[in-house]
Amino acid sequence: MEKVSTIGDNTIRIHWLKTTDSTNLEAFRNVGDASDKEVWAAEFQTAGRGQRGNVWESARGQNLTFSILFRPDHISPENQFIISQISSYAVVLYLERKGLVAKIKWPNDVYVGDKKICGMLIEHSVSGDRLSVSVSGIGVNLNQTVFESNAPNPTSLALETGKSHDPRQELPELVSILCCLYDSVKDMDPDAVALLDKSYRESMYRLGVFSEFIDTRSGERFRGMILGYDESACLLVKNEKGEVGSFAFKEISYII
Ligand code: BTN
Repeated sequence: MEKVSTIGDNTIRIHWLKTTDSTNLEAFRNVGDASDKEVWAAEFQTAGRGQRGNVWESARGQNLTFSILFRPDHISPENQFIISQISSYAVVLYLERKGLVAKIKWPNDVYVGDKKICGMLIEHSVSGDRLSVSVSGIGVNLNQTVFESNAPNPTSLALETGKSHDPRQELPELVSILCCLYDSVKDMDPDAVALLDKSYRESMYRLGVFSEFIDTRSGERFRGMILGYDESACLLVKNEKGEVGSFAFKEISYII
């Protein structure tokens, strides 16, 4: 099933699939013919993939599970965090429209309060000094209210608002926000990149408050305060002695 949606100035091709293994895999299988910003969405994934090799649970027809393929010609591999920023901040803006205050748990989970409403798996192909393809795979829990897996602290739009939402209506709304953000930074306009940085930073979960973390390199549990992230997109956390540490993904875990 294919649907072509006109979203703002963009004509976006959205492929709705009843069942697939994973929309990220679907996007990569179709990479040869795909245009910038083409979308694959599934009612059900038989092998939905999460971060750290986890499975992504999503009940059939209940939620958004989709991948958008970008051809970010002007973005260098060192700046690939921009794709995480636009993807996660787009979800924050989308949820804001639904009446929720959402925060980004660095690098790209989206939380409402202390519960996870959205996860992302972002994969890149590099060609020379450019990102040739980035696939942003996004799962947003819309209507699911019971979660079978041992996913920690899941929530959904329905659990938070008491209302149900039609995935086919919601997808173009979220994709539209995502494409606007992508278009604003895809040429690396410095003002647009700075604005995205500021917006992302201000939306960070646990920014500026002390809470508990584990340094997974040493196993040490510590209290720290997130200050932001550095130029390599590593998380900056100040401990109670005032020392600032920089953590790559997998080097820190949040105690929630
Ligand atoms: C995570 O938080 O562990 C990441 C979850 C990513 C899930 C989405 S659903 C759409 C896309 N297809 C996949 O197989 N995974 C991503």
